[in-house]
Amino acid sequence: MITDLRGRDLISDLDFSKEEVETVLEVAWDLKMKRALGEPHALLRDKVLGMLFFFSSTRTRCSFEAGMAQLGGHAAFVESRTTQVSHGDTEKELGEILGRYFDGIAIRHCDWGIGNSYLNNVASASRSPVLNMQCEIYHPHQCLADLMTIQEKKGKDLRGKKIVVSWAYASSYLKPMSVPQSLILQMPRFGMDVTLSHPPEFALMPEIMEQAQEQAEKYGVKFDVVHDMEEGFADADVVYAKSWGPLMTTQDPDEGKRIQDQYKNWITDSRKMALAAKDAIYMHPLPADRDVEVTSEVMDGPQSVVFDQAENRLHAQKAVMALTMK
Ligand code: CP
Repeated sequence: MITDLRGRDLISDLDFSKEEVETVLEVAWDLKMKRALGEPHALLRDKVLGMLFFFSSTRTRCSFEAGMAQLGGHAAFVESRTTQVSHGDTEKELGEILGRYFDGIAIRHCDWGIGNSYLNNVASASRSPVLNMQCEIYHPHQCLADLMTIQEKKGKDLRGKKIVVSWAYASSYLKPMSVPQSLILQMPRFGMDVTLSHPPEFALMPEIMEQAQEQAEKYGVKFDVVHDMEEGFADADVVYAKSWGPLMTTQDPDEGKRIQDQYKNWITDSRKMALAAKDAIYMHPLPADRDVEVTSEVMDGPQSVVFDQAENRLHAQKAVMALTMK
């Protein structure tokens, strides 16, 4: 078991090897049990995580903040708009300065073509590890919680299990494509056959698709792409259906909305869930557009694991912080 992750950044899902992800999950389960038993686990006493947000959040902010408190440390909430970041603090300056104040820097920056570079530029200048709270390309901490949840529900040996990562219609806003991209990169490493399902205009980034294909070949699993929601759901053990913007087709929000509005029938409902395996689970990272992206019947139904999935953000992130920020 590889245990030394001290000082490591987690920006892309593939920054940690499969073996390192396994270590994270082992620690996450241990911390989950310790919390259940009320056992103190102040592994990061006196340590501080700086959390820099360029985009709104509920789960990510709250779970990182609660996680740091439970580990005996503190999380400082820093918002770009209410700091001098909005007046010109550069990535290099922030990396240098925040890296000296904080024992870890977590950043959410989802702007297209900017966010991921921003994180990497801060990381290059920081002496403390940089953790990705979501950029336009990856959402690795969400994906660790997803993997943890799938293993809890389906067992640790996922070989032969099918996950469908499906686009779904949403009306609220054009959501980032980081969640499906993280899923198609990480799940093949753990033996899952992956089917990616989306309307033609909602393709993912070509370089991520290539990397996902490479992972699938390396780990001997299937990686298929279909353009039909029902075909994607067929016999799936894990249904992971959420919306994302048609960002490879257009970055114009109005044009994106026009394209998106053609696919209002891409909703997860009980009829489509019936196409999946009988014991299939339904996953969504939240927030979801209720009764638009997914029916309340499915979201609140017996196959939905969305609340356990959200809870596991806490445990998976505590594991990453405990391992990287020591
Ligand atoms: N799933 C997720 O990242 O939720 P938030 O946007 O609320 O942080």
